[in-house]
Order: sequence, then structure tokens, then C-alpha cells
Amino acid sequence: MATPKDIEDVKKSASVFVIFGATGDLSRRKIFPSFFELSKNNLLPEKFKIIACARSDFKTSEFVNSLKDSIGPKDQKVWEDFVRKIEYVTADVEKNIDLSKVSSAISQFEDAAQVCPQQIFYMAISPFIVKEAIKNLGKNKLNLGCSRHPKHARIVIEKPFGFDLKSALDLDSELHKLFHENHIYRIDHFLGKETVQNIFAFRFGNELFEPIWNNQYIDNVQITAAERIGIEKRGEYYDKTGALRDFIQNHLLQLLAITTMEMPEKFDHNHIRDKKLEIIRSIKRLTTDEIVSSTVRGQYEDYQKEEKVDPKSQTETYSMVKLEIENKRWQGVPFYLRTGKHLEGKVTSIIFSFKEKGHKFLENFWEKPLPNHITLQIQPNEGIGIRLVAKKPGITTALEPVDMEFCYKTSFDTPQPDAYERLLMDIMIGDQTLFLGDVTESWKLIDPIEQVWQSGKPPLHIYKHGSWGPQAADEFIQKEGRKWLAPLLSICKI
Ligand code: BG6
Repeated sequence: MATPKDIEDVKKSASVFVIFGATGDLSRRKIFPSFFELSKNNLLPEKFKIIACARSDFKTSEFVNSLKDSIGPKDQKVWEDFVRKIEYVTADVEKNIDLSKVSSAISQFEDAAQVCPQQIFYMAISPFIVKEAIKNLGKNKLNLGCSRHPKHARIVIEKPFGFDLKSALDLDSELHKLFHENHIYRIDHFLGKETVQNIFAFRFGNELFEPIWNNQYIDNVQITAAERIGIEKRGEYYDKTGALRDFIQNHLLQLLAITTMEMPEKFDHNHIRDKKLEIIRSIKRLTTDEIVSSTVRGQYEDYQKEEKVDPKSQTETYSMVKLEIENKRWQGVPFYLRTGKHLEGKVTSIIFSFKEKGHKFLENFWEKPLPNHITLQIQPNEGIGIRLVAKKPGITTALEPVDMEFCYKTSFDTPQPDAYERLLMDIMIGDQTLFLGDVTESWKLIDPIEQVWQSGKPPLHIYKHGSWGPQAADEFIQKEGRKWLAPLLSICKI
């Protein structure tokens, strides 16, 4: 995670980014706008080039024009300065067509700038072709980096990293034939979000919480990632993936790991990765019976009519799983993870719900003790909320829940950078802290669930657009003697 010195060093350095899949959705919506912001804020290296690469036949000028709409308001000078850094190359990395043009574009930049830049290959391509594409980088010696001095190239891969344990291992083995682990950047963009990083500060910078961060005080934890949008134009990818693989295997397990892990000895990628891995390893593997009884899967109505989706598809667009961490700190605390598309609103939050202890001397003032809650609101209305109990003003004594909130909007006037801006910067710095390491443990957890779901159990529930998902999920949590707390405890709604 960047220090001011790291940024100064990057600005003095030289880098060339090759973006495969430059015309795709991710490139347009996230990668190029983030590079634009970095360029506008003068945070890119002095000597810098983006080689945008895709199959379509474009001239560089046509390609940069096509980016105009996805990049917000821009000053003409800033825009010109940015587009000057881009060159478009037509090539097919999956079929190994014309990759020599990429090599020549890199060499030309090296010669013109008289430098040996850090070469970075960003695979913003369909996960179904990544393995083939990596092999082709190798065939064209693109993994070797700059030819003037040995400086290995870095590779950036987007989630999902594989589709199950086997394919993740295959992909890893292909990558390791060409790249050292230190040069592999597996992106889970949630780790680049400001609020996710603030979890480290919240947990380890405030002595206050550590003594109560355990099964003696915490009754249950709910991690919710609800989206209002559907699958948009991603039918081909999504129908083969589903909500469990798209969201729970990566984003939500990472959130769970960060909020529950032990304190790392040092703030660096090895220590943080180890601590996260310890947690994922200690999550209880579910048996078939537990999968049937403690998970819910749903599909939004009319999903089967979406473009490039099988009309008989059984892919879930909603999933809920109940997990338990088998270690001393968390034994016995249920963790409910849920995510879904086309739900009533967008909210990502982690809610720690405390035990309803209550003191005897207050027993006349409440029907049952009002539990405390801590809400880590990842998005939107980013912040942290603590639900407390207070006496309602008045002559009689009545107790009511009240919220104490820290909201980014009111506490800081600095805008939050997009997750991708930070991650791109970290790749240039060479800092892997916010990137995934070993993903096999999370597949070991997810694969059995996926297999039972493939057999049709538990049933797939159809839910309405704009609802909070299948009723079965509400019934499930009620049977557990609890209720869903998001969005009830959503905070910072100023
Ligand atoms: C992606 C998923 O990783 O995250 C998408 O593939 C999802 O399905 C997206 O819509 C959500 O990201 P964010 O940053 O908008 O919450």
C-alpha cells in the first residue's frame, strides 16, 4: 500500500502497460478511466505508455475517440496529454495472431525513450481464454521483460481465478512456468476499495474493539453484497459462473477473512496473505446435508430470457451460505454471506451483531435486551456505524436503539480514488498486498457447494426484481432465530 515515497519513485520510473481486451467492458468502465485519473493527477511515470490491444481493427485515433464517453468531464489539455500515451495494436492473444506487433510497439517505446521500462501485461480478457493467452505470451517471449537489463515482466489477472479447484491449479501452473509469484497480480477489486482497507485501520488501529472481537461477545456476522443491476451484457460469462463463484468465492470470502483474521506481524503482503489464508483454511467444510440445509440459491425472474443465457439455465443470481470458522476466536459464531443481482438496492456491508446480554437492573425498561451492532458499510454511503442503547428523553424511562456514525462524506473532504486507480498504482510500485495469493483454499470450500447445487439441491428459487431475494432466505434466517440486518442498519444516509 503506497507511501508518498513509493509514488515519487513511480513518477520517476518508466512503465509500459499492455492491455489485452482493450475494447472490452472492464477496460472501458474501469481501467482506462482509472489511468485517466492517474494521468490527470500527475501520478503516472515520466516515461509511460499504454499499448491497448484487441482483435478489432482500429487506428489509435479511432480507439481513443471511442474512449471519450466512458471517461468523465475532461479538460482538453489533460485529455490530449492522456491520449498521447496510448497506442492501439490489433492482435489476438488467444489465437496467437500478430503478437509480434506488441513486441515491436514495446521495443519502439524503449528505443524512443531510451529506457528499460517495467513491462506489465494486463489480461482484461474473458476468463475462459486466459490460460491460452498466457501460453501465447510465453511463445512470444513476452514474459521476459525488458531486453536491455533483466527486469521481469509483471502479469495482471482478473478474478475469477479459475472456475473450480482444478482449473485454478491449472492456471497457476501455466502462470508459474513463465512468471515468478512475485510478478503475478491477481485482482480482486474489492481489496482496492477505500472502505475495505479501512477495515485494517478500524481493527488494528483502535484498541477498543480487539477485546470484544470474538465469540464471547459476537452473536453472528452478516456479510451482504446486494446489487440493483442484473447481469447486464455479461450473459456468456455469468451463466457459466453464477453468484457463488462470481462473488462469494472471492469478494465475500476476502471480506470475511480481513474482518476476522489475527493481527499480522507486519503490514506486508506475505504476512497479510498468511493471516487471511489461515482463516479461509479454518472455515468448516460443509457436508452435503449442511449444504442442503444451510445454503439458499435463487434466480431473478426472466433471467433465462437474458442475452446469451441458456433458456433453461439453473444458474443462480442469488446465493446465501452460512459458514463457521473453526478456531478459538470464532468457534460457534455463524457467518451469513449473501449476494444477489436485481435486488431492491445496492449495499455492501459487514454487520457484527453482539449477544443480547442485558443487565438485570434494566430489565423493566426493555422487553428484551437490545443488542449492539457494528456496521462496516463498504458502499454506498461509506462509513462505520455503532448501534447503541440510549435512554429516550422524557419523564418515564424507556430505552431505545441509537446510531453513532463515522461517515467518509462528512469526516473527510478528500475524494476516494476508485479501487482500480489504487491497484494500478500498486502494480507499478510492485506492492502485492492488495492482490490475491493462494486461491485454492477458497475453491476447496466452494467446490463441494457447487457440486451439490449442480445436483439440484437445495431448490433454485425464483425471486422478483427489486425484492431482497428469495423468501427462502428470510425463512432460513428466521429459523435461526435472527433477521437480516442489511439494509435495516444502513448508515450515513445524509
Ligand atoms: C464484479 C462482479 O467482480 O463485481 C460483478 O463480476 C459485480 O458481477 C461487480 O457487478 C460489483 O463491483 P462493485 O465494485 O460495483 O461493487
